[in-house]
Amino acid sequence: MYVCICNPVTDTQVLQAIESGCRSLDDLQAKLGVASMCGRCSEYAIGILERVALGETTENRSKV
Ligand code: FES
Repeated sequence: MYVCICNPVTDTQVLQAIESGCRSLDDLQAKLGVASMCGRCSEYAIGILERVALGETTENRSKV
């Protein structure tokens, strides 16, 4: 599913970026361009960061 429409970025890409070291919205913005235009995707991207902090990964994403 697309998280960011302005810069076509999917939730899988965001999860992979977090798994490869992104730890903040600023990190995701620098790596993928998330929230670098209209900003409407920032809350959703932060939500993914929070879910990863609770244990979600690309492997278990439906369980968290
Ligand atoms: S939807 Fe992500 S910057 Fe606009």
